[in-house]
Amino acid sequence: MGNSLTILGIESSCDDTAAAVVRGVPGAAHIRASVVHGQAELHADYGGVVPEIAARAHAERVDICVKEALLQADLALSDIDAIAVTAGPGLIGGVLSGVMCAKGLAIGAGKPLVGVNHLAGHALTPRLTDGIVYPYLMLLVSGGHCQFLLTRGHGDFSRLGGTIDDAPGEAFDKTARLLGLPQPGGPSVQAEAAHGDPTRFRFPRPLLDRPGCDLSFSGLKTALLRARDAIVTEKAGLTRQDRADLCASFQAAVVDVLAGKTARALALYLAENPAAPVLAVAGGVAANTAIRARLETLSADHATRFLAPPLALCTDNAAMIAYAGLERFAAGEQDDMTLAARPRWPLDATRPGLLGSGKKGAKA
Ligand code: KG4
Ligand code: ZN
Repeated sequence: MGNSLTILGIESSCDDTAAAVVRGVPGAAHIRASVVHGQAELHADYGGVVPEIAARAHAERVDICVKEALLQADLALSDIDAIAVTAGPGLIGGVLSGVMCAKGLAIGAGKPLVGVNHLAGHALTPRLTDGIVYPYLMLLVSGGHCQFLLTRGHGDFSRLGGTIDDAPGEAFDKTARLLGLPQPGGPSVQAEAAHGDPTRFRFPRPLLDRPGCDLSFSGLKTALLRARDAIVTEKAGLTRQDRADLCASFQAAVVDVLAGKTARALALYLAENPAAPVLAVAGGVAANTAIRARLETLSADHATRFLAPPLALCTDNAAMIAYAGLERFAAGEQDDMTLAARPRWPLDATRPGLLGSGKKGAKA
């Protein structure tokens, strides 16, 4: 392959420490190695990710992940063309661990350094997995984010809408916590939902009655809490079936909201880009089979190609960071030792922050 690049990627923005090696050119690359060290067991007692524990674990493991990834790829650091690292957005202690490691490796081995926006990593995943061309509509649904992105290039994103409060992954995680199910909540709620009745509880479908592509999930969580408390008051506890029905009804509401708003975003997108009918999903919540199935049907109804990455590339990983870094590096972009770790870093800086703008700028 002409001008083929070999990129080492490092990811540490939340609770997965990861390193990967990707090789190729923009739109035609493959994964040589991908290592993910999850931290679920470290945070299990706390019902959520504890930033200080995450940061320490990243600092302890990130170099081990890099070593394993190079070993798996059967490459030495000297074979790498550039080092890509998540520079935000995310939990700042974790992002710092990755950025410091990448800087050390870049200086030590004399390699270029490429900072990557974690959200761009997710959003460019269908370019890595399926080599699709720009533009395409991306629904990014994760533990911290939910947005529709018109993706025109590796650094060219327009946000058509997004969540005004919680991310869907957060809602899945909170639901699991309220029902005493293990974290991360998405997979446990999905598993319970599989043998529940999605029609037993009629949870709200927030913002579906309003125009536009913005979404909301916080009211859903409150409705679930009320339904749970009503059963507990009535029967002094939850049965296995109650729990499954609550999960199934909650998941059905999330699916309806995502599908309703995706239909709108897709109509807007197709009006502007009729020659590129592609909808792709990414982010941890894109691992949900009910969500995938509904979006697939919706895409077929709109004569649109639907792309969903394999499960391991939906949740956080470093292959997507290496790939996004490959696109930046191939375009002649790189960073120097002043690369900063950023807790907030919206992909579309032209739009006002959806989740409020503090001193550090728009959150998402
Ligand atoms: O993209 P990701 O790994 O990390 C962030 O950047 O946020 O997403 C993690 C989120 C968690 O909230 C987790 O509960 C959710 O993705 N998740 C799921 C499923 N698998 C993971 N949500 C719903 N259904 C799933 N099968
Ligand atoms: Zn993520």
